[in-house]
Amino acid sequence: MEIIPVIPRGYCKGVTQAIALARKTARENPGVPITMLGMIVHNRYVVDALQLDHIRCVEQAGKTRLELLDEVNEGIVIFTAHGISEEVAEKARQKGLTCVDASCSDVKETQRLVRQAIDEGADVLYIGKRNHPEAEAVLAISPRVHPVYDQDSLAALSLDNSKILVTNQTTMSVLEIGRLMDQIRVRYPHARFEKEICNATRIRQEAIQKLENVDLLIVVGDPQSNNSNKLKDIAIQSGIPEVLLIETVRQLKPQDYLGRERIAVTSGASTPTYLTQQVIGYLNEVAQGNTPEYPDIELDKLL
Ligand code: F3S
Repeated sequence: MEIIPVIPRGYCKGVTQAIALARKTARENPGVPITMLGMIVHNRYVVDALQLDHIRCVEQAGKTRLELLDEVNEGIVIFTAHGISEEVAEKARQKGLTCVDASCSDVKETQRLVRQAIDEGADVLYIGKRNHPEAEAVLAISPRVHPVYDQDSLAALSLDNSKILVTNQTTMSVLEIGRLMDQIRVRYPHARFEKEICNATRIRQEAIQKLENVDLLIVVGDPQSNNSNKLKDIAIQSGIPEVLLIETVRQLKPQDYLGRERIAVTSGASTPTYLTQQVIGYLNEVAQGNTPEYPDIELDKLL
């Protein structure tokens, strides 16, 4: 059995900077209540580890950032790497909260592009994931930003503006974006296209597409992480026979890896290296004929 760590994998610059900013905020403000408005990056172990720095997280499936803000009444609020709408930022300021913005610069660039198009009178078709915070912030820019989640939401749209910008959430699949953009091009031949998949997402997906003779790919990532899920989708569409998305090594079962010859391991842009290394280390032990124990997950070593 051969274990192939995929390069590149793991943290992107936006995630690294968001986590560093949250920890710096905690260090510089001892005793001040600090709250993340949603998961700072989509990995629950990162969120748990930040609690050791006394940074709490308000998060509830189905709740918008605006609704989550109702649960923050004092101290510092940290906006997550996925970006924030001006409406939420303004409401936080009105509540007297100190705002720390950990939005990724690539997300902000997409927001700037969309705002500029709206100011120029265009309608914007935005390809993104339903209920994702990054999409939520972009859709809040204007009612002229229209979500495209799939073929059905595209079919339901009818625009007669001579100016249309088509763009997307930064962590989508290059294949999925390509297909939807082709369909949009047929319906709106005059539209302008700006692919906004971030560099980190693109090069991690390309590395998966280049894998050869692999019979299992393991993606280490949180089920809520869009870019981790897209790595899985790309792998399936690239013909890799089996693809697993796991949060930690403790979810690996012998039936997953026994009998495999070449196992590749990658991880989402919000997955700590520590968790991925545990998976690679465990499988390397198995490959050498050993029967390893599951390692403990030590939160104080995770960030
Ligand atoms: Fe930013 Fe892309 Fe990472 S949008 S947070 S660099 S996955």
